[in-house]
Amino acid sequence: MHRVVGTAAVTFAEEEDVEDVRNVPLLPADSAHLTNMAVDGKLRNQGIARLLLAACEDHARQIGCSSITLAVHVNNTPAQKLYMSAGYDQAKSRQPKAPLFMLPGRRWQHSIMRKSLLQ
Ligand SMILES: CC(C)(COP(=O)(O)OP(=O)(O)OC[C@H]1O[C@@H](n2cnc3c(N)ncnc32)[C@H](O)[C@@H]1OP(=O)(O)O)[C@@H](O)C(=O)NCCC(=O)NCCS
Repeated sequence: MHRVVGTAAVTFAEEEDVEDVRNVPLLPADSAHLTNMAVDGKLRNQGIARLLLAACEDHARQIGCSSITLAVHVNNTPAQKLYMSAGYDQAKSRQPKAPLFMLPGRRWQHSIMRKSLLQ
């Protein structure tokens, strides 16, 4: 029997400039988007997220993506440190629209990070 220790998902756009209801920013056709990164609370700080991230990046490269983006909450310091240490930078692209479930008037509190997958 296998135990689930963490999750991560990669989505990608089939057309240019897709605006996705899953909070994906305007996404070039050759860019992947990472979502749902989480590790079991009892198993953190053992490098599992780093392995999940690397596997997602490998998969994105294999399907022809030249970059990968993600949204991270501005107060989520552990996740921001994870992504920065793995080579992600603050994306200069436009911020995504607030998700559909967000209450009117609430501010979008995530920043978009990006990593090139070339070379
Ligand atoms: C963020 C999260 C996925 C990290 O998982 P993890 O398996 O513990 O991370 P790793 O052990 O692979 O750590 C890799 C790097 O992330 C950073 N990091 C992870 N946890 C950290 C913490 N509590 N504080 C500061 N930096 C942290 C470090 O840079 C670390 O590298 P180092 O060990 O060489 O210092 C995990 O804390 C989690 O599931 N959080 C709740 C869900 C969440 O916020 N997901 C992100 C959504 S964008």
